[in-house]
Amino acid sequence: MRFRYICSDCGRVYESNEIMYLCPECSKDNDGKTFSKGNLIVELTDDVLKRAREKEHVKAEDFYPYETKHSKEFPIGITPLVEARRLNKKSGLKNTLYKLDSQLISGSFKDRASYLVAEQAIAHGEKKIALASTGNAGAAMSAVGAALGLEIILFVPESAPINKLMQSVLYGAHVVPVKGSYDDAFGLSIEYTKRHGGINRNTAYNPMTIEGKKSISIELFEQLGRKAPDAIYVPVGDGCIIAGVAKGFIDLRKAGLIEKLPHIICCQSRQSNAISKAFESGKYIPVKATTRADSISVSLPANGRMAVRYIKESDGWCVEVEDEEIIDAELELAREGGILSEPAAACAYAAYKKDAESIKKKLGEDASIIVLLTGSGFKDMAVFDGKVKLPDAIDATAQAVDRLNF
Ligand SMILES: Cc1ncc(COP(=O)(O)O)c(C=O)c1O
Repeated sequence: MRFRYICSDCGRVYESNEIMYLCPECSKDNDGKTFSKGNLIVELTDDVLKRAREKEHVKAEDFYPYETKHSKEFPIGITPLVEARRLNKKSGLKNTLYKLDSQLISGSFKDRASYLVAEQAIAHGEKKIALASTGNAGAAMSAVGAALGLEIILFVPESAPINKLMQSVLYGAHVVPVKGSYDDAFGLSIEYTKRHGGINRNTAYNPMTIEGKKSISIELFEQLGRKAPDAIYVPVGDGCIIAGVAKGFIDLRKAGLIEKLPHIICCQSRQSNAISKAFESGKYIPVKATTRADSISVSLPANGRMAVRYIKESDGWCVEVEDEEIIDAELELAREGGILSEPAAACAYAAYKKDAESIKKKLGEDASIIVLLTGSGFKDMAVFDGKVKLPDAIDATAQAVDRLNF
């Protein structure tokens, strides 16, 4: 036995390696009016942590609750850590590094969670995985499913960017567009598993999603020369990625490999700021999410309470940015960093930019900072409609070249 579950709200312990979703006690009263309760935390045994501590170099699989038997068929990471000097010159923070999770196989961070859920399914003899997604988790799960021969049933809001939906169709998933929001798709995917069986991979609902996502922190620890950064900027919707980032560093601390967590900074669009508002007010109330950054457009975050707790535990904070700042940040990343990222990812950069002066005061100009860029710009080019356009074609003549003024 490599792990047990602990309820992140009531602290009940479940000594089980069976598939569990929410704490049966705490989730009883979830009614959608406040952030749901009962998300489970996976606690690794001391044995697993001790083995990790004794290794000269650690890998994500040293901290996974399941043995990974298919990592060669669907490798996770190591993703590039880019210096982006032109951007750092602007911010005045010379030790900022950009973690490009857009370089994972399906083009987003979501491969990390999907891969581990696939291992969970295989370990339990399941062949079918259902989920709801704003697009990236679905594409990631569909890609892993194709590689490992699993059947994927994907509920997505019909408004999700076409490239993300097409990706999942191309990988051969059963794609079910829903006339409703992501939150509607979330509910339907749970109904699906109740009625048709299989594993549910919904973000945070299945605690293995957080365990998969924590691989980023193990990777960063090694990439930075076996240490944690001072701060990490994370784009946030449901609050599962940020919880994964925190959990990775918490496991590293438990293993005795780091002493202190980095400041974990929650980056949200002001048009989808449920977690940030909860962090500031202590009230766990849904918002009406309208942000153009589709991947972080969440009214009722599936992992909101745990996210707030981890931000506090890491002595972190929240930064909200306008959608306009997100699109400008996306353009700046592309034009001055050579980094193409989708709007949700660019939200982390927009928040970092907004925070640069205060972080210099708080942590100094030499602080080691990570901006987590979670998804590729290829996923959603339509976001630039009206802002950037392709130039008109020129005649195929030398005179036309003469007329160019650049
Ligand atoms: C590219 C990208 N960034 C950030 C997020 C936000 O992650 P979470 O919903 O776990 O907060 C998502 C979620 O779909 C995403 O796809």
